Amino acid sequence: MTSCSIGPLLHEGKAKRVHATDHTDLVAVHFKDDTTAFNAAKKASLAGKGQLNCRIAALLFEHLERQGIASHYRGLMGDDWMICQHLRVIPLEVVVRNRAAGSLCRQMPIAEGTPLDPPLLDLYYKDDAYGDPFLSEARLTRLAIVSADQLEEIQQLALAVNQSLGQLFTSVGLELVDFKIEIGLTAAGQLLLADEISPDTCRLWDQAVADQRDRILDKDRFRQDLGGVLEAYREVLKRVQGVCPEPRVYG
Ligand code: TMP
Ligand code: ASP
Repeated sequence: MTSCSIGPLLHEGKAKRVHATDHTDLVAVHFKDDTTAFNAAKKASLAGKGQLNCRIAALLFEHLERQGIASHYRGLMGDDWMICQHLRVIPLEVVVRNRAAGSLCRQMPIAEGTPLDPPLLDLYYKDDAYGDPFLSEARLTRLAIVSADQLEEIQQLALAVNQSLGQLFTSVGLELVDFKIEIGLTAAGQLLLADEISPDTCRLWDQAVADQRDRILDKDRFRQDLGGVLEAYREVLKRVQGVCPEPRVYG
């Protein structure tokens, strides 16, 4: 593996910046300390959040890779950067829910924590200007951002990620309540897991804690003003790194 130097900013999102590198097929992703909720209506900067999420995402991507689920992740660079394959990210948020929480409970009569078996797979159109709306399959077909075959592959991928991460989190006493993934296409047309997987993009409940607020170890602590956001993310990192090898450094 050769080393990589960071080039100009290509894209800035709410939680990450994507830079070009001196390798045309690679980008350098910087994890910011910024955190937002409700389409950035609520914002804060939490010193150290970027490093925590970068490391957690690296551990989770490497775990998935060992299980045959490929992603854009190539390796860490420093504390809050990762080197990734350059993809064309599909503007879809793919959410898998194992228990009812969050928007599901706001949008239909279902109590928080109700088990969903089989898991519910929801698709959202990733566009802040429209507020990331829920998509029916008919609307997705009309948008034509993926083919029917790609949609099938994306759904299988999301369920495989759910299976693999669900087992990993269970092994460290955490329940994977739900999560969001994004998918990108390589120049050769291969679908790969993109973006990040972290407590910003998952709901994780401590299985040993009964209290409905105290058990939350994810971004809901920020969304719901529960405090202890970084402490929760640190706990997730501690548990995951207890069962995963040290993540690789790029170059
Ligand atoms: P929801 O309950 O708000 O629909 O969220 C479902 C899951 O998706 C939850 O784990 C948080 C994650 N998520 C994101 O990663 N980004 C987002 O913009 C939203 C709304 C949710
Ligand atoms: N990331 C989202 C935003 O601020 C929302 C969320 O995660 O709840 O747009």
